[in-house]
Amino acid sequence: SEAAPLTGRTVVVTAGGTREALDPVRYLGNRSSGKQGVAVAEAALAAGATVTFIGGAMSVEPPAGADVVRVESTQELHEAVLRHAAGADALVMAAAVADFRPAEYAEAKIKKAQDGTNPVIRLERTPDILADTVAARTAGEPMPGVIVGFGAETGDATTSVLEFGAAKLARKGCEMLVVNQVGRDKVFGQDTTEVTMLFADGREPVAAAGDKADVGVAIVTELAGLLDRPARL
Ligand code: C5P
Repeated sequence: SEAAPLTGRTVVVTAGGTREALDPVRYLGNRSSGKQGVAVAEAALAAGATVTFIGGAMSVEPPAGADVVRVESTQELHEAVLRHAAGADALVMAAAVADFRPAEYAEAKIKKAQDGTNPVIRLERTPDILADTVAARTAGEPMPGVIVGFGAETGDATTSVLEFGAAKLARKGCEMLVVNQVGRDKVFGQDTTEVTMLFADGREPVAAAGDKADVGVAIVTELAGLLDRPARL
């Protein structure tokens, strides 16, 4: 119905940042607040969906009314997404996933060396959870027909934020990419945001701006529209 367009639908939303352990007391993390993912989950719940919310490190509470799964590392998030996305109608990957993690984990706390030498942290790539979910679907697993990624872009001298976004959408193979322009004091942790939604089916981009709650509703509106179409063109 008009009032509850996602009735009978199952939506998995990831949010927050991952933490990659260096030793028992230290980690590499990021500035994600989890606010945008929580807003998407709340909008999906309001639209009548059953929501599984997979949250990493966040500065806000997980949404009331969702099935909440908490994770810390990219590895845990990876396992949780593949498990919970199976059989779901849509996946929204709003989590800020580490692109790199320490290549080694020190079982004991890393100490200051007596000879004054400093430790060197070697990094390795993390798995791309979004791309792996799309790949699992391509391989015939029951992954969501609508997969939404986020792209935090800064643009550079020669390439605009939206050009980077379009390339990312194609690379990831998902149905929709929510692109936002980020900086140190922009978007991450803030209550307001400005995004452009890009679509794999060739539809015109849709812009949304305002409170993260309003942008969450705009994202869910587009998601509901995608669910009402044949899964893949
Ligand atoms: O490539 P980039 O990190 O900019 O892509 C961002 C999108 O991909 C987000 O939706 C994020 O949740 C997802 N991602 C992921 N696994 C990673 C890195 C990012 O699923 N290792």
